[in-house]
Amino acid sequence: MHRMKLDFNYAMEAFVKGGLDDSALENYREKARMGLSRLLKQVDEDKAGFANLPSQDTSAMKKYAKELSGKFNDLILIGIGGSSLGIETLCNALLPFGYNARNFAQRGASPRVWVADNVDPSKISSILHECEPADTFICVITKSGSTVETAANFNVIYEWLDDGVKDPKKHICTITDEKNGSLRKITDKEEFRSFVVPANVGGIFSVLSTVGLLPAAILGIDIDKLLEGAATVAKDQYEKVITLSSIYMYFMDQGKNINVLMPYSSRLSSFADWYCQLWGESLGKRTDVNGKEILFGSTPVKAVGAIDQHSQVQLFKEGPEDKVVTFIEVLKHEKDKKIMAEYDDYGYLEGHSLGELCNIELLATEAALKNTGKPSVKISIDSLDEFTLGHLFMLWQYVVPVIGLANDIDPFDQPGVEEGKNYAYGLLDKEGYSDMKSKFEEIFVKRDDFII
Ligand code: PA5
Repeated sequence: MHRMKLDFNYAMEAFVKGGLDDSALENYREKARMGLSRLLKQVDEDKAGFANLPSQDTSAMKKYAKELSGKFNDLILIGIGGSSLGIETLCNALLPFGYNARNFAQRGASPRVWVADNVDPSKISSILHECEPADTFICVITKSGSTVETAANFNVIYEWLDDGVKDPKKHICTITDEKNGSLRKITDKEEFRSFVVPANVGGIFSVLSTVGLLPAAILGIDIDKLLEGAATVAKDQYEKVITLSSIYMYFMDQGKNINVLMPYSSRLSSFADWYCQLWGESLGKRTDVNGKEILFGSTPVKAVGAIDQHSQVQLFKEGPEDKVVTFIEVLKHEKDKKIMAEYDDYGYLEGHSLGELCNIELLATEAALKNTGKPSVKISIDSLDEFTLGHLFMLWQYVVPVIGLANDIDPFDQPGVEEGKNYAYGLLDKEGYSDMKSKFEEIFVKRDDFII
């Protein structure tokens, strides 16, 4: 049974001027195969652990989720970036809208869920305002154990918990590296219950590790089905990985340096956020693996259909020829609603459904872009569930490093975020960062006449 299809008609010269012809497609497929073989070598060498996650043992996570079941009204997840975007995506796609407004029974005895990612005081205060310490369980998620936002939010939330319950330990679990980092030290000292993020799984690629799966299991999401869907990418012989990465590489080489992901489903809105991190952090690199400056990358853009038809599509259609759009189509929307036209003016809607309208709008946008020579590809899934979401995650987790490795960059590091982090540590007077404070003071120079 094919639960996902890739349609690349409108990336092809046969339909869109400047698109791929058969020989370009074959050449770029060759390049993508080379990227894939480099990636699979890293997998074999145990360096790219994300690829082996579908075969991990999930029993300890499921057992723990069962132990917690029914005991807590709220789950606060503390983490940011790779440690929050994946679980946000899982919640957005697989829990109903308004989930937190449902009562305990309607939620199947699973807790409400709050993601404490940003150090935005109003967000954190509002989350704590909603929760009762005695009824709250907290997962602190940080692979490095040192991320400043996570450390700060954990401190604030721990104090709140400690003030409200006798034994805060019973309300906390950590998800972090097995050996390294401050949170591992704290976890061992305090004897917090803890789960390990595998050392060979990078933060951006961690959604299908304990980072995404443990909270998902606590929320009643079928984590085995997610992994089953993820496993199909390899089972399908990476056919879609090769084709999709070929198409993206071709258009990047043509100077189309904006890559738009546009699911036609609000349930995939957070998936597009997750993709932006994966694409941006993995592919935006100043140098290649030999240290040569190449300023590689293309800019990921999130759009959600049909909402962005009333916003960004004007630009996609009539603006610069610098984009390739990837649509995601959900063929059968859950809980679809028939439209009964209550007024004659809306008679044309009679008998259609909201899901059908959403998909018709996708076709219409696809046609309109094609008609102005703007390339697009379309991924169709038969419905959105754990299996297809797992497949989507894994597909992009392959496509992105294949592009990176085929272009001689390292898709698994993020040196570009270090400098800013280190200035912040310097400004916070963290031990060992005084030189960064001095460097900041030296370079952060502004002129008053440029401030009005
Ligand atoms: O790409 C990354 O690794 C980052 O986005 C991290 O996921 C983010 O900085 C959080 O890191 P950590 O899980 O170590 O707290």
